[in-house]
Order: sequence, then C-alpha cells, then structure tokens
Amino acid sequence: MKQLNRTQNEQNLVHSAIAQIRKQYQNAESEEVPQDLLENKYYKEYEPLDKLELLADQHIKYCTKRLLNIGYSILYLDVGQPWCIYWPLNALSILQEDVSKYEEKILQYLQQCKIGGFGGGPYQFEHLAPTYSSLLTLFILGSPASLGLIDRKGLENFFWSIQDPREKGSYLMHINGEADMRAVYIVVIMVSINICKYISPKLLDGCAEYIASCQTYEGGIGAVRYSEAHGGYAYCGYAALVCMGKAHYIDQEKLLNWLVSRQMENEGGFNGRTNKVVDSCYSFWQGAIFNLLMLSGYVNEQLMDVQELKTYIQMCQNPAGGIFDKPSKNPDTYHTCYGLSGYSLSDSNFQNPIYNVPNKCIDFVQKFFQ
Ligand code: FPP
Ligand code: ZN
Repeated sequence: MKQLNRTQNEQNLVHSAIAQIRKQYQNAESEEVPQDLLENKYYKEYEPLDKLELLADQHIKYCTKRLLNIGYSILYLDVGQPWCIYWPLNALSILQEDVSKYEEKILQYLQQCKIGGFGGGPYQFEHLAPTYSSLLTLFILGSPASLGLIDRKGLENFFWSIQDPREKGSYLMHINGEADMRAVYIVVIMVSINICKYISPKLLDGCAEYIASCQTYEGGIGAVRYSEAHGGYAYCGYAALVCMGKAHYIDQEKLLNWLVSRQMENEGGFNGRTNKVVDSCYSFWQGAIFNLLMLSGYVNEQLMDVQELKTYIQMCQNPAGGIFDKPSKNPDTYHTCYGLSGYSLSDSNFQNPIYNVPNKCIDFVQKFFQ
C-alpha cells in the first residue's frame, strides 16, 4: 500500500497497532477474527488523529499555487478546464481568502471558453458541466465585471437546445449528449436565479416530476430512472427540488433513511451508495442533503454527525496542503473543494447548499439579475 504523509507520531501509532494485530493473529488458535478486532480496538488507538485540526494555511497555499497556474496546471483535465478554476477558488473562498486578486486572469480565460454556455476549454463545444463550473466561478468572484461576462440570452438558447427529446423535464449534458440528473440540476438552479435574460420558467416544466420518478426503492435518487441511488445524483435531484420549492415531490422520509445510512460508523465519512467505500467528496454531496432537508423545512436540526465527518475530513488532509479521497490517495483540488465544502456545512449560514458557493455571493447574484 502506498505510504501516507503521516507525522512521525501518527506513523508510530499505526505501526504499533499493526504489530499488535499481527501478535494477536500469531497467538490465535482458530481462524476466528479476534474480538478486539471486531470491536475496532485498534481503530480507537488511532484516535490521536481526531486531535488534528483543519490545515487551513496549507490548503490556502495548495489552492493558490494551482490557481496561479491557470493555463498550465489545468490542461490535464482537457474537457473540464473551468472545473480546475472553480475547485481551488471555491476552496479558497470557504477559507475566507480574498479571491478578487485572481479575477482579471480568470475572466480573461473564461472569456475564451464562452460560447453561450461554456466549453471545457478554448475552442471546445458548449457543455453543461463546464458551464456550471464557469458560472459558479463568476458567482464567487461576485463583481459587475464577472457577472457581466455571462451571455444571458446565449445561455437560454443553450438550455433550450439541450432539452431531452425523450423525457419531459430531463436535460442532456450537451447537444446529442447523455441525459442525467446533473443536467436537470444545473438548468434548474441557473434558471431559478434568473440568469436567462428572458426568464423562461417553461424550462422548468416537468423537472420536479421527472426528478421524483428517479427516486429509487432505497430512497436516494439515481442518475436516470431505474438506476442505482447515488450521492452525487441524489444531491443534484434534491437540491433542484428544494430550489424550486418542490421538495415534497419525493418521499423525504425515505430519502432521509437512505441518507443516514451513508455515514459510515467507523470512518465518520460518507459513501456514495450502498456497500461502497467512504470518499471525502461525499462529505459535500451527501452532507449537503442534510442541510437541504433543513432548508426545505423537512427536518429542523442537523441530523448527520458533524464531528465525525470533520474528523474524517481532517484525516484526509495532506500535511503540505490539499485533501484526498481517502488515506492512501494523493490530494487533488476536486477533493479539496468538496472536502472543505463538507467541512463548512456545520456553519449553516456560510455556504449555500444549493449552489455550493458562499451565501453572500448568491445574494449579490440575485440582486444583479433582478
Ligand atoms: C464516483 O462514482 C463519482 C463521483 C465521486 C462523483 C459524484 C458526483 C456527482 C455525480 C455530482 C456531480 C454534480 C455536478 C453538478 C456536475 P463511482 O462509481 O466511481 O464511485 P462510488 O464507488 O463511490 O460510487
Ligand atoms: Zn471522491
């Protein structure tokens, strides 16, 4: 297994835990798993990790470095370059950094990706995923110049062009592309913030009904109808419903039942679906659904274990900055963004759970597009 970036003290703890486990197995007369192991004794010995803090300064350095490299560092995600701006920018704004210093460079770059919606890079076709990450980036920058870059009529035309011809209320990710819950979510939240010049509530016709038809027998929501409930799509579907004031279109009790079972007892983090492993990015995709359930008024208190979740996220920190999916992986800006977004959910006033940008930015955008 790949070595983690642990401190010497943590390393010693892990070594002593492994040594004890080996000793137990050597002495075991049967093949039964020792009771201590079943009770997770060795995991508890790992508890000093719980004393870890959020390494905010290191994450700021990590994200700043990547933002300053726009043009070079983002080429690795060829068809999703605006994501590589949104992820570190959102992380920095959650850490309350002043991001206005990056505005000029970012606007220059996104201008080159703009068609009506945005492409994944200069000279690419418009696609909903980079459109979403570009728009959120412009929201975070939150200035007349950044919002002025949006082609509101062009966006509306793009949205009309990607209506799913087979399903009312469903959208495609790009012309002739795949349809899934991400697309419905992006169109719904952008239309709802009046981003299109000639406000077209008609674009939302049938969306709530379509989303409701994708709720599965487990209670979560799938990418498309009859597919497995998954945290990413459950977030998209439910956030879109809450945004439209139509949360009651699905069975929220069933959703909540499925959701609480996604927070893993041992790790404290979330998995994305039944019988899968924990991943720090679900701290947001799943965690935010709890905040959305509060926002919709279905529950009146935070029902996830926030402290356990924070501990898991802290365990996923690279000491030099950046967050990884799970111990043994390398940090990346995607997990840094969604790890920190999940971390911020305990402060229900800071980050907007529907848009995943700070609430103050959403207030500004709403006023700007009024
Ligand atoms: C992994 O699936 C998928 C993810 C970690 C991303 C999930 C997030 C979304 C679908 C939401 C995206 C939202 C927008 C707006 C673009 P997997 O099958 O590899 O992992 P698993 O084993 O954890 O299920
Ligand atoms: Zn992940």
